[in-house]
Amino acid sequence: MLKVWRREVLREFVRTKLNGYRFILVSNREPFEHRHASTGINCVQPAGGLASALDPVMRACGGLWIAHGSGDADTQTVDKFDRVKLPPDDAQYTLRRVWLSKEEHEAHYLGLSNQGIWPLCHVAFTRPVFDADDWQAYRRVNERFAETVLEEAGSDPAFVFIQDYHFALLPRMLRNARPNLVIAQFWHVPWPNSEVFNLFPWKDEILDGLLGNDLLGFQLQHHCQNFLKTVDCSLEARVDESGSEICRGGHSTHVRPFPIGIDFDAHAELADSDAVANQTRRWREELSLKGKMLGIGIDRLDYTKGIPERLRSLGRLLEMHPQYRGKLVFAQIAVPSRSSLPEYRNIEQEVDYLTAQINRRWGTSSWRPIVLMKRNYNASEMIALHRLADFCVVSSLHDGMNLVAKEFAASRADEDGVLVLSKFTGAAHELKEALQVNPFSVEECANAYRDALTMQPDERKRRMRKMRESVEDNNVYRWAGKLLSELARVETKEKQVPVSALETEFQPAALGVAV
Ligand code: G6P
Repeated sequence: MLKVWRREVLREFVRTKLNGYRFILVSNREPFEHRHASTGINCVQPAGGLASALDPVMRACGGLWIAHGSGDADTQTVDKFDRVKLPPDDAQYTLRRVWLSKEEHEAHYLGLSNQGIWPLCHVAFTRPVFDADDWQAYRRVNERFAETVLEEAGSDPAFVFIQDYHFALLPRMLRNARPNLVIAQFWHVPWPNSEVFNLFPWKDEILDGLLGNDLLGFQLQHHCQNFLKTVDCSLEARVDESGSEICRGGHSTHVRPFPIGIDFDAHAELADSDAVANQTRRWREELSLKGKMLGIGIDRLDYTKGIPERLRSLGRLLEMHPQYRGKLVFAQIAVPSRSSLPEYRNIEQEVDYLTAQINRRWGTSSWRPIVLMKRNYNASEMIALHRLADFCVVSSLHDGMNLVAKEFAASRADEDGVLVLSKFTGAAHELKEALQVNPFSVEECANAYRDALTMQPDERKRRMRKMRESVEDNNVYRWAGKLLSELARVETKEKQVPVSALETEFQPAALGVAV
């Protein structure tokens, strides 16, 4: 079997190749929040793929992570420079918190980012809201983060790695202030086609902002192509579609796909722990699983995740196949998210309503087909559920990648369990052995659940083994390593001057790994 990128390999790469460069990562969501609890102050990892994927990368790379301090005890846990060492039990990198006012948070995060850009980029048929005041606040918050990055970078050579759609203006601001910064950005969500993006009232500014990057990464080649086309239709710029490069005002931005992964080893190790084994026993009790089959879904409570569609198709399964009545439990974890927005409150109501309706129609005094659990669960609790499941459903209407699908496979050292996966996720491009479905088709999904429940053990094993190989190989260290190698390559080519720390392309083979 191929050896894979691991944490030590990435650490060695960063040590040798980025030596002398400050490594600064920027995201809106922080990797850990401090929150008041009855027992004191808790340090918790927020839900969502970004924090869980990037934390292992920062543990490997060290450096500084700049993010919005959103926890209610965050101000009490930083030093006088607003910094805190993380992770709490084993400090390996530094978090610098940026404080935003309630108004800034509402307009930048809830407003422009999550009511404007989020629905614009996901084809989930939720109408984006574009508010001029939110746009001004979005610009101001990007400026606040630019000031913080510049303050932290000082005059040292620095590599700034920006995450996602909350900071589309930041690269240009940094480039204008310090032309010699090395800047890359990863856009975790899809990039829509140019007709859709044209709806955005301030599209030229956003595109210009993103072209401040040296390297701009997307999950899929298809998103790169959409971006190149969008720029070509909108801005004065030389767009080289075949070379995937855009030149504007004498500066080049390279556009590349880097499908993100998870820390497979750490995940598999936790899946094998006593904590998870104990938790599986608790779930068996709590969900009354004796003599029953289990289906699971684990999502942020977000309208892009296709949870109502999933529930309807489970109802259809029970209607078409009476043999599953009384025999199948579907456990849905729905982690509250962005819940002050009306679109999110509506989806929660719809999920509550459908759950109650299905349970009323098919449930009995001793059996509830759908168990809806609306709170945050820790990693052990979610992995234990993965390990018990006969099938796991990821039915996103549109999703940049979806790491739940990868985590499910990483949890299954027993090579059992079936993944039912929306074909509209980035993960579907890698996990070909999943039962791929159109989440908008109730019939197709119901049939896929039946296929999952009747699949022969050797077929389940064959599929799960392949998916695990793919998740192990395309892990988050490989993602970061490939992105940084590409950055080193384009930097050397662009600057035509030896940037000593970045001058040679990293060859993982030299460290005994294959890519
Ligand atoms: C998606 C986005 C991330 C975001 C995550 C959780 O994966 O791409 O940028 O952090 O959702 O959402 P939240 O709004 O809670 O940060």
